[in-house]
Amino acid sequence: MKQELLEQFEGYDEIRREIEISRKFGDDFSLEKGQVAEYVNRLHPSLINLRVGKIIEETASTKTLRLMAVNGYLPPFQAGQYISLSVEVDMVRTGRAYSISSSPSQTGYYDITVRRVDNGRVSNFLLDKVKVGDFLQSSGPQGTFHYHPILHQKEIVCLAGGSGITPFMSMIREITDRGLPRTVHLFYGSRTLDDMIFHQELSQLSEQFSSINYIPVIEGPDCEYKGKTGYITAEVIQETLGSLAGKSFFICGPQAMYKFCLPELDKLGINRRKIKQEMFGPPINIWEYQGWPSEIKAEDRFTVRVNGSKSFETNAGEPLLAALEDNGLVVPSLCRSGECSQCRIKLVAGRVFQPEGTPVRKSDRKYGYIHSCVSYPLDNLEILL
Ligand SMILES: Cc1cc2nc3c(=O)[nH]c(=O)nc-3n(C[C@H](O)[C@H](O)[C@H](O)COP(=O)(O)OP(=O)(O)OC[C@H]3O[C@@H](n4cnc5c(N)ncnc54)[C@H](O)[C@@H]3O)c2cc1C
Ligand code: FES
Repeated sequence: MKQELLEQFEGYDEIRREIEISRKFGDDFSLEKGQVAEYVNRLHPSLINLRVGKIIEETASTKTLRLMAVNGYLPPFQAGQYISLSVEVDMVRTGRAYSISSSPSQTGYYDITVRRVDNGRVSNFLLDKVKVGDFLQSSGPQGTFHYHPILHQKEIVCLAGGSGITPFMSMIREITDRGLPRTVHLFYGSRTLDDMIFHQELSQLSEQFSSINYIPVIEGPDCEYKGKTGYITAEVIQETLGSLAGKSFFICGPQAMYKFCLPELDKLGINRRKIKQEMFGPPINIWEYQGWPSEIKAEDRFTVRVNGSKSFETNAGEPLLAALEDNGLVVPSLCRSGECSQCRIKLVAGRVFQPEGTPVRKSDRKYGYIHSCVSYPLDNLEILL
């Protein structure tokens, strides 16, 4: 009865034929074959080939690299997202995340804005070695640090420090380019005025658009400076904004900034779960973190045995992912700050330290998977890649 009914539908015979062909050859011979995969790959490519089109000197320690697609097409992104560059430096293949600082309305390129980190492997390579015309590879745009019209209010308060300005620059450029009905109050903390990235452009946009309220906060200004000084405290936020009702909070910057600013937001009664945060890399000085066992020193050495064969030694204070890369073992990674779970590996034996709050899935915890970018050996380890 059911079969008779089905046979009455238009196109039934063609569909049956396609099912038979698929069953027989285990493949899809339809006209649409591969189209969905093609669309998905255009929107979410695993790898993008890029050419450095321009390098812009922003401050003494910061440059913007303008990256153009080699094939002429770049996937769209949400302002606030990042790409993960894959590079080889000193014979070590590794990756680092950089937020896109250009506006999503600009589809011809991605700008990334890189600040030098003392002794940093990739930032120094990008700033000193990369030239216009060079080729780089990256992931597609990633991350959840972006405005969401359902979750966020139309008025957003952004707290930025150092290179943490980059995702906000993209958001602000998009709002002003596209005339989006959103207001941004941007508090940007910096040691000196000369260190501030995009200061000129932000000051101009703030004058030109009533929706952009730019508040630089300088730690050590010279006597000419008339703006806010010191740190981004609860008082500075309160006296600038007055009422905090109906505003969403975003924060991005070095780890010292979270340590300082989150308690300040607590004082203002802002629920931490409502603060959108972006970590710019693995924890610095992990041995100072809450929960680190006092008997283990950062320089203590442990053996890591991989897939039951290769072994190497590493320090307790070194993230496992970095140690694996130093030993020629490539593990896929994106954020390198514990968030995306791309670098998960199986811990078969031994103990690691992962900072509290690392978002490891319940099932991963149960079966011994760890995020290697924020896992630190506390024992001799046995792992599976
Ligand atoms: C989502 C995301 C977006 C990011 N966007 C940007 C961006 O737009 N611009 C940008 O410049 N960086 C950005 N970063 C940081 C970037 O990915 C690298 O971590 C940074 O460039 C340092 O890499 P490195 O190889 O030079 O240093 P590494 O060789 O990895 O580190 C060297 C030493 O410096 C310490 N260190 C690492 N990072 C920092 C830091 N940020 N401040 C102080 N000390 C540090 C490490 O603990 C280590 O001891 C982002 C990170 C994430 C996760
Ligand atoms: S690379 Fe994202 S969690 Fe490790």
